[in-house]
Amino acid sequence: MSADTTDFPDGFLWGVATAGHQVEGNNVNSDVWFLEHLPGTIFAEPSGDAIDHYHRYRDDIRLIAELGFGAYRFSLEWARIEPEEGRFSTAELDHYRRMLEACREHGLATVVTFNHFVSPRWLLAAGGWEDAETPARFARYCERVMAHLGDLIDVACTLNEPNLPWLLRSLGFGGEEPEQRAAVPLWAAAAERLGIEPSRVAPSQFTVSDAGFDVKLAAHRLGRDAIRAAKPGIPVGWTLANSDIQAVPGGEERADRVRREVNERFLEASRGDDFVGIQTYGRTVFDADGQAPAPAAAIVNHMGEEIYPQALEATIWQAAAIAGIPVYVTENGLATDDDALRIEYLRAAIAGVRACLADGIDVRGYIAWTAFDNFEWVFGYGPKFGLIAVDRATQERTPKPSAHWLGEVARTGGAAAEEGAQHAVPAPA
Ligand code: BGC
Repeated sequence: MSADTTDFPDGFLWGVATAGHQVEGNNVNSDVWFLEHLPGTIFAEPSGDAIDHYHRYRDDIRLIAELGFGAYRFSLEWARIEPEEGRFSTAELDHYRRMLEACREHGLATVVTFNHFVSPRWLLAAGGWEDAETPARFARYCERVMAHLGDLIDVACTLNEPNLPWLLRSLGFGGEEPEQRAAVPLWAAAAERLGIEPSRVAPSQFTVSDAGFDVKLAAHRLGRDAIRAAKPGIPVGWTLANSDIQAVPGGEERADRVRREVNERFLEASRGDDFVGIQTYGRTVFDADGQAPAPAAAIVNHMGEEIYPQALEATIWQAAAIAGIPVYVTENGLATDDDALRIEYLRAAIAGVRACLADGIDVRGYIAWTAFDNFEWVFGYGPKFGLIAVDRATQERTPKPSAHWLGEVARTGGAAAEEGAQHAVPAPA
């Protein structure tokens, strides 16, 4: 098919994403670095040098552009920019300014996340994402960032996946309420080191509580308003973890409850934003007892989860219907060593985006997770989501076939995604 048969609108962003802590290395003033090194840590290994993107960003950004992409989503590390409360580092702001300038030089639109799970260690000591002062602290940081970098930011994402902890809890992972935290070795160790009560240990990625919901929503809105005030007209939103929540017979009630708690209330809270970022990897199916096992014939990813690219079409639909605002796909991808499978996953997911556009949904971009193999949080460096492989001993980068394939899709405005389908994974119905 030729480029003029594609249904993707002009200005549609085709990009790749990373997040600071997962790629930069040595984010030593951050809460996550601190948690990685405590006794009882739940991190498989520490982030260490990561892929040294902090120093290698120029070559990395050039490579992303050369592959054909038109946008780069990355995050700023608050712990570098404000290493002590109220002390802002001009040198670190300048670092991010150089990154943004490198994107401009190579024609990449910039999609910037202000907080991708990771916060300064001092914020954790101050009660983190449950403390009533955190929204004002976050807004002050957003204001400083915009004053220094705003002219080079095209799309602003406030918080990344504020809803993730509730999704994780529905899968049986973490989510201790404040009074339960003393019993968890990692939170107990963190509290002792920080000199606070265990009930007050509230990092963004793992905190499930009503206060956590309220604080994140208030932070998002105050941050959004600060960003808009600094640069009227800039699109601002948050990005959500949108699993396609489904039920098999007997699991309907549980699925409804999880869908409401994890997806719907966050989408409702997005009304009034300029867009919502959709981050979908697959589906979560519930039966009467909890999460249903993957179908016996399912092909699975590095974390043992069923590969289900059809989820993206469903979650875009859900977001548009509930939030009623434009959508960017800010993450979508697959952890696998089988790169041919990754291409078929991406192809099927992109077909879902195309179907949404044909249905009249205002989807403005598709940003794949992730540019490089990187630090996958508690799983360490095991899972490989990257389009570009990295040898961490030499820091050598090697684009995988999927990087060339998706780059060509980007270059042709979506047309190349329709050519040569293998259908190793099912196309969306
Ligand atoms: C996050 C990324 C993460 C990815 C894959 C999302 O939850 O935003 O930081 O690496 O999913 O698990």
